[in-house]
Amino acid sequence: MSQNPTQIIVFDTTLRDGEQAPGFSMDVPSKLTIARALEALGVDIIEAGFPIASPADSEATRQVAREVRRPVIAALARTRQADIEEAARALEPAERSRIHTFLATSDLHLERKLRISREACLEQIIDGVRLARNFTDDVEFSAEDATRSDRDFLCRVVEAAIAAGATTINLPDTVGYATPEDLREFFEEIRLRVPNADKAVFSTHCHDDLGLAVANSIAAVQGGVRQIECTVNGIGERAGNASLEELVMAFRVRRDRLPYETAVKSEGLYAASQLLSRITEEPVQSNKAIVGRNAFAHEAGIHQDGVLKDARTYEIMRPQDVGQEPEQLVLGRHSGRHAVQKRCEMLGLLLTHDELGLVYHAVITMGEHRKAIGDGDLRRIVERVRSGETAGPGNASAHPEAVGSGHGVS
Ligand code: KIV
Ligand code: ZN
Repeated sequence: MSQNPTQIIVFDTTLRDGEQAPGFSMDVPSKLTIARALEALGVDIIEAGFPIASPADSEATRQVAREVRRPVIAALARTRQADIEEAARALEPAERSRIHTFLATSDLHLERKLRISREACLEQIIDGVRLARNFTDDVEFSAEDATRSDRDFLCRVVEAAIAAGATTINLPDTVGYATPEDLREFFEEIRLRVPNADKAVFSTHCHDDLGLAVANSIAAVQGGVRQIECTVNGIGERAGNASLEELVMAFRVRRDRLPYETAVKSEGLYAASQLLSRITEEPVQSNKAIVGRNAFAHEAGIHQDGVLKDARTYEIMRPQDVGQEPEQLVLGRHSGRHAVQKRCEMLGLLLTHDELGLVYHAVITMGEHRKAIGDGDLRRIVERVRSGETAGPGNASAHPEAVGSGHGVS
């Protein structure tokens, strides 16, 4: 799929790994709405579900496969025959389909969870991949808990899966245990040691248990991976998966260090994030990078003053580039005079120098008791100042902000 060596395939698993997380389950129409939004966003592959898990999962996968035509639609399946056949049935209406089959490969999972030997594991993988290839030419194999698997055994698994017909090899950091350096070396080593590695696209799937999922995914790309698995808002099992919006913008903003591209239209990121939040009724953390409410908001006076003079002083990307509103100056206790003046101007309130001093003083006084001051509050303050109701601060210009610097800092 990816011819250009710097092009990164975005595999979105919001509807599968994301939906598996507590609080994020979605009904069939909701899944379809999200799938359409992901298509519009430009993701390459949508993992629509795990069809054997429930009839609703199977139906959602089928409907997404029928309605969403541009991206590849993937369905998850263990290496068991029933899983693969159910995935294949659900994917029947797809324009382009992928069966994503997986089996754990770490000794911990083999011995304690699956209670099978390494040899039995290898056999199941080969059989599963071969069976999946009867239904589609696009088969992904994932070695669950790959980063905690024995390296020699993992090399045998990868070689066998490719020989059996897997076209994508995903090596997940299932429990979010890896560090970026680990993961980069891990992929470099596997790709070097597996003789037929060049016959498959390597993929990364990182969980965020240590808050490293995005950094790890980037390191994996630097180690030769060309597919990243991620979710909108980083939702997913436990602490979640690598966040799609953070990865897309890391590649876009730091092209100097990360010369990779994705096909995602970044201007749609905020809308996609909000849509998911509305559908699942789960709020987005306010300080979440890229799509959080505060990601481009400035309350500190020094920052507001800087942003009003040149947004690049405190913004490394333009809010519009991710679909957020520009110039989000929040009025509150830390605000600066410059921002108060600007906000008033935007509301059509042109203040004299003395009025501005009084309004500014009233804003920071009100900010002592309020989280944020809205436009209605500001209008009322201006009315009170103009009607002579609000007494001045005594010496408004004694406040550090009054000399134009503001007092809130990073
Ligand atoms: O985290 C994981 O290992 C997975 C696999 C099923 C891909 O979600
Ligand atoms: Zn996962």
